[in-house]
Amino acid sequence: MTVREVLRMGDARLLEKAIPVEKFDTPELHALLADMQDTMAALDGAGLAAPQIGVGLQVVIFGIEHNPRYPDAEAVPWTVLINPTLTPVSKKLEEDWEGCLSVPGMRGVVPRYTRLRYQGFDQYGNRIDRSVDGFHARVVQHECDHLIGVLYPMRIRDFSRFGFTEVLFPGEDIADD
Ligand code: NI
Repeated sequence: MTVREVLRMGDARLLEKAIPVEKFDTPELHALLADMQDTMAALDGAGLAAPQIGVGLQVVIFGIEHNPRYPDAEAVPWTVLINPTLTPVSKKLEEDWEGCLSVPGMRGVVPRYTRLRYQGFDQYGNRIDRSVDGFHARVVQHECDHLIGVLYPMRIRDFSRFGFTEVLFPGEDIADD
C-alpha cells in the first residue's frame, strides 16, 4: 500500500507505448494495482493508468461514485482493465471537460466518441467486454490514451477552452487536479 508519485506532463515516460501484461493474478500485478488504487484515492482521481506512475504496462483503473472533481458526472463502475482494445460503436463525437492527474490544476474540452465497446481482462484474467456511452466512454478513452502515450491536451481542438481550473471555474468547489 503506497501512494506513488504521479508523473506530470513533460516527462518522456508519459509518451511511451505501454506493453501488454502477460501473466495475470500474480503478486506483482496485485501489488501494482494496490499502489494505483491508493494513489488514485489519495489524489481523488476518476482513473489512473500504470504509465502515470512510471510502469509501462497496459493497466488502467477507473471508477466514480461521487467525485468532487466531476460533480455532475454520472457514476462509473469500479473497473480494473488490462490489455484493452477500444472500438467506437458510432463515429459521433461529443465534447466535454477533462482533467488529468498528470496535468494538475488544468481543464480542457476534449472530443471523444460517445459510444464505445471495450474489451480486455481484469487482474485475474477474466474477460471484460462492455458497450458503454457518456461519461463512462469518456473515462475509458482518456485512461487508455495513456497506454499509447497520449495526454488529453494532445486531443484538444479548441485551445480557447483549455486553462487553469481556478480561472475557468472561479468559486466552484473543484479540486485543483
Ligand atoms: Ni489522465
